Amino acid sequence: MTWYEDEKLWVDFACVMFPERREREAAELVATSPLLKVVRGTRVLDLACGPGVHVVPLAARGAEVTGVDLSETMLVRAGEACARAGVAARLARADMREYVEPGAYDLVINMYTSFGYFTDPGDNLAVLRNAHASLAPGGTLLIDVLGKEVLASWVGRPQAVDVDPELGGGTVFMRDTILDDWTRLRTDWTHVRGDEVRQASIMCVLYSAAELRALFEQAGFTDVECFGGFDAGPYDNHARRLIVRGVRG
Ligand SMILES: C[S@@+](CC[C@H](N)C(=O)[O-])C[C@H]1O[C@@H](n2cnc3c(N)ncnc32)[C@H](O)[C@@H]1O
Repeated sequence: MTWYEDEKLWVDFACVMFPERREREAAELVATSPLLKVVRGTRVLDLACGPGVHVVPLAARGAEVTGVDLSETMLVRAGEACARAGVAARLARADMREYVEPGAYDLVINMYTSFGYFTDPGDNLAVLRNAHASLAPGGTLLIDVLGKEVLASWVGRPQAVDVDPELGGGTVFMRDTILDDWTRLRTDWTHVRGDEVRQASIMCVLYSAAELRALFEQAGFTDVECFGGFDAGPYDNHARRLIVRGVRG
């Protein structure tokens, strides 16, 4: 089993990856970001949707949302989040390397560093090609990752996050390691709670803006643009994320 197939990883560390504040932040992004503008009826695919933090506000704005994820538990959580918010969305269990619905979407999103999970570069390209095939002509793909340049400004500093006692308590420690001449990043997660210690590692391909832009173009996207945040600001020395957008011509 590879790390991203480990259901336990997403569940054990959900308290840090998907804290309640992310739901509020995602709702704010969907309400304000020029990159996430949808109107009633916009057909949106949230690829690797997790517990649905973007599915809910997009559906609440009238978009027809499909959330796809490999983790059954995450999909159950996304369904519960939709029910709590009183919105409807289609949720499907699938691997992003395989999921294609030809011409079915106006917007495909892949958020919060859910890209670059596969060791074989062909698999990461396949995700982009699938997204391209799933878009209607003129539709857009938006990918949000931590760019190599952004990471370089702070990588190496270990982080510790206290977990809300209502979510189990304890502390999660995160340590990043750059591998293979800056081509990959491993993040080791350790959750310490009393005598109990849980560990997991995430391994991602690291992309510079130029590398991810080139991959979009290789997958057939046109008008590829890079942004440094959801305010659609430039990917420059103030960038906090690497957001790449491409159009299916
Ligand atoms: C970092 S989380 C991000 C979730 C969500 N996009 C968000 O903004 O909170 C990554 C998600 O990718 C999913 N995932 C991992 N490998 C996958 C694959 N091969 N196909 C589809 N989803 C996958 C995980 O189950 C997890 O929910």
